[in-house]
Formats: sequence, C-alpha cells, structure tokens
Amino acid sequence: MNKIKNTLFGNKPVTLDENSLIMAIESSCDETACAIVKGGREVIANVVASQIKIHEEYGGVIPEIAAREHLEAINVVIEETFRQAGVKGKDISAFAGTVGPGLVGCLLVGLNAAKTLALVYDKPFIGVNHLNAHLAANFIDTNLKPPFIALLVSGGHTQIIKVDSYSEMEIIGETIDDAVGEAYDKVARLIGLPYPGGPKLDKLAQEGNPYAFKLPEARVGGYDFSFSGLKTAVLRLVKSFDGKEMPVKDICASFQECVSSTLFKKVKHALEETGYKQVVLAGGVGANSEIRRKIFSLKDAGYDVYAPAMKYCTDNASMVASSAYFFENTFDDVDVEVFSRA
Ligand code: KG4
Ligand code: ZN
Repeated sequence: MNKIKNTLFGNKPVTLDENSLIMAIESSCDETACAIVKGGREVIANVVASQIKIHEEYGGVIPEIAAREHLEAINVVIEETFRQAGVKGKDISAFAGTVGPGLVGCLLVGLNAAKTLALVYDKPFIGVNHLNAHLAANFIDTNLKPPFIALLVSGGHTQIIKVDSYSEMEIIGETIDDAVGEAYDKVARLIGLPYPGGPKLDKLAQEGNPYAFKLPEARVGGYDFSFSGLKTAVLRLVKSFDGKEMPVKDICASFQECVSSTLFKKVKHALEETGYKQVVLAGGVGANSEIRRKIFSLKDAGYDVYAPAMKYCTDNASMVASSAYFFENTFDDVDVEVFSRA
C-alpha cells in the first residue's frame, strides 16, 4: 500500500493516492528531463535529453550554455513525455519541478515550465528539492518506506542522511571539501579522460589492481568526508611517472578503492550507531560499480539494501515526481523561487 499524501492547492486540500499521476520536470544541471509517475512508484514515461556532448568540448558544464540548451529542449521533452505516456494534461493530478540546489539559469527553465503547466491545467504545483529527489529514486519500483540511512553521492554533494519519516530527515555527515562526483571528475581530468570522467574512470578501474597504490584516506571525524587530499595524492602519483607510461587502470582502481572503502566504513558505522536496518544509495555516483558492490555487501550483514536502477541514479525527472509524492518537505507554492545551494 502506497502512502496517501494530502497537499494544498491554493487553500484547497488535495489528496494524492496510488492512482495519481504526477508530471515532473528536472533541469538543475545538464539534463533536461520530464517524467510521469503513478502513485510515486510506477514510471509511466521517463524522458531525458542530455547535454553531455555539448559540454564535453569545454571539459565541464558551462552554466549559460546549459540554460540555453534547456530552453531549446524543454517543450520537445514535455511533448515526448505526454506522447510516451499516452495521457493529456487534464489527466495529471499534480505538476512538480526541481527548485534547487542547482544552476539558477537552468532551474528557472524547468521550474517555470512546471508552474505554467500547473496554472494552465488548474492543478497543484509541488516544488522539489533536488537532493530529496535523488533519495526518492529509491521509491521507484520498490516498497521502501522510512526509516533508513541514505548515502547520497553526486556531482555536488556527499552526505549521509538519517531519514526518519517522509517529513523528518537529518544530514549526519557531509564532505568538508570536494563532493565524490567532483573528485571523480577532477581525477579523471588529471589522467586525461574526457568530461564527465566519473563513469569512464569507473570503467577503467574495473580492469585495474585496486591495491597497486596505497592512497591516503582522510581522517575526518564523525560521518564527515574529505576528498581533496586524495585528489592531491593522485596528482603527485601522476607526476611521479614524469612522461613514462602511466599504469592508468591501476591508478583508477586504487583511487576507486580508497573512495569506496571510506564511504562504506562511514555508512556501516552510521547503521551500527543508529540501529537502522535499511540503507539506500542515491545520486549520480550511485551508479559506480564498486560503491554499489560494497554497499550491497551489507546484505550479508542482514541489512535491506536499496539502490536505484542506473537510469534513476543520474539526474532524471521520475525521481522528482516520486519525491513530490512521498516527501512532505516540499514547496507546494507556485510562487516558490529557485535556489542555487543547499
Ligand atoms: O547526480 P548527478 O547526475 O548530478 C548531480 O546532481 O550532481 O551526478 C553526476 C555525477 C558526475 O560527477 C559524474 O561523473 C558522476 O556523477 N558519476 C559517476 C558514475 N556515474 C556518474 N562517478 C563514478 N562512477 C560512475 N559510474
Ligand atoms: Zn543530481
């Protein structure tokens, strides 16, 4: 049985139930995405237009270009979502859009599209926090319910979150410098891989020896993380080859081992200290093979482990729709403004 959510539309209470269709739009970074999800768990249509090819030549996302690309893509992506789902605007129960954190110019495009749809079809608008949405990707095609511990690893964030209920969550640990995805992308660039380097580094790492080089694990208290020292250590290692052929796969594997074991240890510790029995992986870096393997190994210790399907790990709008449905800490107000940082 799914959760039933009571939300407000103007002053009018609205009930969303397991048959409700939510259309959501996501445009916080370099993916223009739209989706329709039924009852928060069943994806009816999921459309993602990626800008990776455009940003590749600059080695990273250029915010101005990204915003313009969203404008180009948004209408086509929305129409394609309606077409794939075989439904019309009047069949949608509520419209949702990502409010932040993200690139302001990019967020504005998707958020205004979602608000406009809500106004045109006279339906509730639900504003969603991008980080909540990454967590909510775990509700898709599962029966997951809080409480759980979440490891959220993306291009901009690295957090351990204690999710007590649909309305209460607490960040119990986070990075004090680079996010995991950022560290992956920077290290990938050091060894000459094109943007976005994370997935490419992961691929090479799978063919290398994870114990070839001993890289330093940062000693940061509690559940916090630091990855900038590790990045510098890789830079030193790369320089030490000084023109000689570099064992790229072994460097990738050793870096991946260091990152994944740090994340694993802190998550395990959080589970032991809180006594929670469910753990979820979330965010773009949740697609990483070794991080997934280590987190799934917690099954052997009796934990229930969840990780979204690959296509729902990286930015997409199904997770936004799911978040709009399940989480209470949303922005149910058509006047809500975008924000860049959490
Ligand atoms: O969640 P996401 O799509 O966007 C943000 O909200 O940041 O995450 C993108 C990040 C990028 O840094 C990308 O390199 C990384 O996720 N990433 C990976 C993998 N797939 C995506 N990092 C390591 N291994 C992967 N397989
Ligand atoms: Zn994201």
